[in-house]
Amino acid sequence: MTDFSSPPPGSLPPGFVFGAATAAFQIEGGADEGGRGASIWDTFCRTPGRVLGGDTGDEACDHFHRYPEDIALLRELGVDSYRFSVSWPRIQATGSGPANARGIGFYNRLVDGLLDAGVEPAVTLYHWDLPQALEDTGGWRVRETAERFAEYTHLVAAALADRVPRWITLNEPWCSAFLGYADDHHAPGTREGTPALAAAHHLLVGHGLALQALRAAGVREAGITLNLDRITPASAGPRDVEAALRARTQRNLVWTEPLLRGRYPDSESDTWEDLIARPDFRRDGDLQLISAPLDFLGINYYTPSVVRAAPYREADAALRTAMDNRFEAVPVPGVRHTAMGWPVVPDSLHDLLVTLKEQYGAALPPVFLTENGSAEDDPAPVGGTVHDEPRIAYLRDHLAAVARAVADGVDVRGYYAWSLMDNFEWAYGYSKRFGLVHVDYDTLRRTPKDSYHWYRRLIAAHRGLVHGSDGTG
Ligand code: FCB
Repeated sequence: MTDFSSPPPGSLPPGFVFGAATAAFQIEGGADEGGRGASIWDTFCRTPGRVLGGDTGDEACDHFHRYPEDIALLRELGVDSYRFSVSWPRIQATGSGPANARGIGFYNRLVDGLLDAGVEPAVTLYHWDLPQALEDTGGWRVRETAERFAEYTHLVAAALADRVPRWITLNEPWCSAFLGYADDHHAPGTREGTPALAAAHHLLVGHGLALQALRAAGVREAGITLNLDRITPASAGPRDVEAALRARTQRNLVWTEPLLRGRYPDSESDTWEDLIARPDFRRDGDLQLISAPLDFLGINYYTPSVVRAAPYREADAALRTAMDNRFEAVPVPGVRHTAMGWPVVPDSLHDLLVTLKEQYGAALPPVFLTENGSAEDDPAPVGGTVHDEPRIAYLRDHLAAVARAVADGVDVRGYYAWSLMDNFEWAYGYSKRFGLVHVDYDTLRRTPKDSYHWYRRLIAAHRGLVHGSDGTG
């Protein structure tokens, strides 16, 4: 039997936000409906060999039509907050011009439905679905895209800011810049050097401009979500230690340093400083714009990395920096791995949070875990549920790690489980299931898994403890 008692819900502070998360392209479908334009992921899915099984987001979970059912699932789950993303090409089919009223209408209905259900909406403005028309004019390689992003943010905020308290500008810009423009694993799927570094910078500029638009709209809380990595060297040898430092720079510091300290990392003066901080795409005042105060930092966390030194494999210094291959991940022995092949080491989440606090002190804003969860080879639904004990253990142990970080002084305000439902897992198509709710892709039927019921009870117990009854739900 799964132990439902850990983490003791009372060890998380009163007011701690329990949530669940999704993203537009992964669940919505309705690709050609409501005036939606194409995104880079529509194009990528149609490029042979890019997405497993040739899967697309055309129908996905059909959330575009079934959102009332999904809101009912959230209400029943009892989450305080639901993190979803707005699809940019639903609001502006070609990435510029006035807001598409039908696109805004969809999100208005979603937000109103959530509020009626007692669930606070949390909006991510960019979860990777760039309008294809903007990619055609340079994508994130060019500064204009950051300016378009600010205009789009203004349109969405004008429509929703009165009812949406929590806003996230970008989701995991590391993936957008480097998996998209340097590693070709994500859309648009190219392998470039300097343009990928320009993309990183322009994403941060886009974040800064969007933050200004959100402030102008008077939103309660605005932040950004990063996928920060807990990176340790494979050995105590100096080459591996140095490789781990390089990995931390490329994965974490290139985002946290400009955002939280207004500077690019200086540990690699011959690479980042030369390549990202000085070239044509950097303008005076950018770092000031990028480092405007955040109300919170969103962190997505799944698994740690253990790295060792590797030989140079890239002649282009910029590409080598963007997709640093002077380090490589080594297997983590002796721990369970999820269906993604990701090692499960909950302590690493605690260590990441505590280290961040040590590193940034007062410069670290309150933190939300904006994603955490596991893909598992779930059995088929039986008797109206899915027995997914490994997912329960994963969620339980990571929440316990968050609780320990809070006890150690890190101001973590909330936790969003990834994901509310099984969905389109990017280059893996529909082959990986992260949901608390099972989705049958033939019938689109939703079946809450055991982990959904476990999370529901955990939330109810937390409320009960906080409000002084036993509340075991
Ligand atoms: C994150 C993404 C999210 C989901 C999870 C598994 O990197 O933000 O959309 O795919 O990984």
